[in-house]
Amino acid sequence: MQSSKLRFNSNKKKKWPIVVTVIIGSILIIVPVIWIGIHNWNLDKSLAALNLEQKTAEPRQIADSQEELQDVGGDPSEEPEKNQTPDEPKESPKPPVEKPANNMYEPNQKYPKVPTTKNGLIIANKQHPLPVDYNKGEDIIARSAFNEMAAAAKLDGFELVAFSTFRSFERQEVLYNQYVEKDGEQAADQYSARPGYSEHQTGLAFDIGEKNFEQHWAAATFGETPAGEWVAQNAHLYGFILRYPLGKEEVTGYMHESWHFRYVGVEPATDMFTHKQTLEEYLDL
Ligand code: DAL
Ligand code: ZN
Repeated sequence: MQSSKLRFNSNKKKKWPIVVTVIIGSILIIVPVIWIGIHNWNLDKSLAALNLEQKTAEPRQIADSQEELQDVGGDPSEEPEKNQTPDEPKESPKPPVEKPANNMYEPNQKYPKVPTTKNGLIIANKQHPLPVDYNKGEDIIARSAFNEMAAAAKLDGFELVAFSTFRSFERQEVLYNQYVEKDGEQAADQYSARPGYSEHQTGLAFDIGEKNFEQHWAAATFGETPAGEWVAQNAHLYGFILRYPLGKEEVTGYMHESWHFRYVGVEPATDMFTHKQTLEEYLDL
């Protein structure tokens, strides 16, 4: 009885290695077969896939987070720090903000009750008319600054005169209508302000010429005379700016006027002269 039991056990023990071998052998055969099968029975692809699976893991993670940023409406320029080279700008360039053209009148513009000012400076241009009844006359501080400048110019041999300063709304209306009749509206708008839009109505604009040289008054040639050049180079020291410079017609709205100066005070005038800025640029209008 005991011997048959022993025989049975020993038979059972002998079969285990065979069973284990068959199982391991099956795994070693079946797994590669399935792997090659899912790669279309292509041995190269199956081997390459073994390598690639590991290498692509990290970049795919980053790509996913970029998609997330875009999907939730995030700015794609705000990518993770490690994806940006130091030379890349952090922000995508923004389109320039559209500004209304300074050389055009706005349709149906109303005259205001009070003048527009910025940084303490009164503005009169094609976008900013003055009140119809703004009628203060010639500004006394501007006149005194002009007299000081004229005294300095005289020492250098030039006798300056201010041949037109304050002009009322009504006076500008008469002048503008004459110009329109003579040259037409489009041409007149290049050199004459419409009533209510002239800086002369502020009392701060001075049309400057040289005594005994009337042929250059209100003419482009004044800028080429020694007196005109002197004023262009020195006016800021007395608080005046050349209001309508050459090349800035699109900014100021008017053709170059070498004779028209506007009083703004010494500091702003010096700033604008130094930086070659018009009043519109200086005040960022
Ligand atoms: N000539 C300047 C623009 C004016 O009429 O005020
Ligand atoms: Zn003028």
